[in-house]
Amino acid sequence: MEIKKEATENEWIDSLTQEDFYNGYDMSDKNQSYDLNFGNSLRDKLRDLYDLLFRRRLYKVIYKNYFKQLPHEYSYVLPSKGFSFKARIQWLNKYKKIKGAKILNVGVGNGFDLPIWLRYSPKEFTGNDILIYGDSHEIVKRESKAISDTKINLYQKDILDLEVDEVGTFDIIASAAVFEHCQDMEKVAYKCFDLLKPNGMMYASYGGPLWYTYGGDHFSGRDNPKNGFNHLLLGKKEYWEYVKANVELTVDSELKAGGGGILVKLDLFSKLSSNEYLELFKRVGFTVKELILEYCPMAVELMKDKKIREALLQKYPNLNEDDFKCKTHIILLEKKA
Ligand SMILES: C[S@@+](CC[C@H](N)C(=O)[O-])C[C@H]1O[C@@H](n2cnc3c(N)ncnc32)[C@H](O)[C@@H]1O
Repeated sequence: MEIKKEATENEWIDSLTQEDFYNGYDMSDKNQSYDLNFGNSLRDKLRDLYDLLFRRRLYKVIYKNYFKQLPHEYSYVLPSKGFSFKARIQWLNKYKKIKGAKILNVGVGNGFDLPIWLRYSPKEFTGNDILIYGDSHEIVKRESKAISDTKINLYQKDILDLEVDEVGTFDIIASAAVFEHCQDMEKVAYKCFDLLKPNGMMYASYGGPLWYTYGGDHFSGRDNPKNGFNHLLLGKKEYWEYVKANVELTVDSELKAGGGGILVKLDLFSKLSSNEYLELFKRVGFTVKELILEYCPMAVELMKDKKIREALLQKYPNLNEDDFKCKTHIILLEKKA
């Protein structure tokens, strides 16, 4: 189906199907160029050093035991900043050596962060994504040859369609901002476990933000920060009216605005609570090596409103205040032999 690019009203939101979205668009980011020095500038290095020596140390003290009601252990809590992607990969490398490893990056997107991985000289890097990023992937594969001999495979495929017979097994699986969008997270977790070698490790960060916190639908609060919990508090009809009133006119303009309206329309969320993710990983067979949490400052602010706080707790009796404040999990999971 052709997706209307010059609509005068946001009628796309009624007609867009998952099939159209997954196959009708090359999502490649045309506004950003592929930087072989990504994450490695003097500014990046100074920021990472500052975060390591000062910011994270300070946060560890300030936010020690910040979450008291989440029923699982964590190493520390951050205020949604202070831990760059490059620093996280360095953290992963402490536990599982990337050099010589076979890596799978689930939901790789454009793949523009590949230089960070390539500097560690993995043996092979495979990135899959359910959406088309054809143009970006061509650029990344071609230009990366200037800095690395690592074999690079990038293609469009749902994680659930990758089979061990076809792609083999991996020493490391990584995914950034993907798990919160998987409608069948249970199957995804089992698939990742299967695709990992014994003693392999999975790095994942998910929750940009998690469903049960502020803007968990990647949309609520777009018009006014006070509406950040609309996806949790409004009735179905009221919520849909809210989305339609605030969504962009075309698919293209919505994508430029962050694409939250598309995610809402197609319901591309796993909608698990903090505890449900961790229970699932345990059930699948993973062991949590380390867990770092981020809280959402906007959620904390809104939760000071007694009406909002009580409405949330009443509507979701199985959750607690911490569930509504926790924004992201940054986790290392081990598949013990
Ligand atoms: C927020 S983007 C993050 C992209 C990239 N990891 C990054 O950090 O820039 C989430 C990505 O996950 C992909 N995704 C979601 N579900 C997927 C699945 N089942 N299999 C593969 N990719 C998936 C989406 O298509 C999207 O590109």
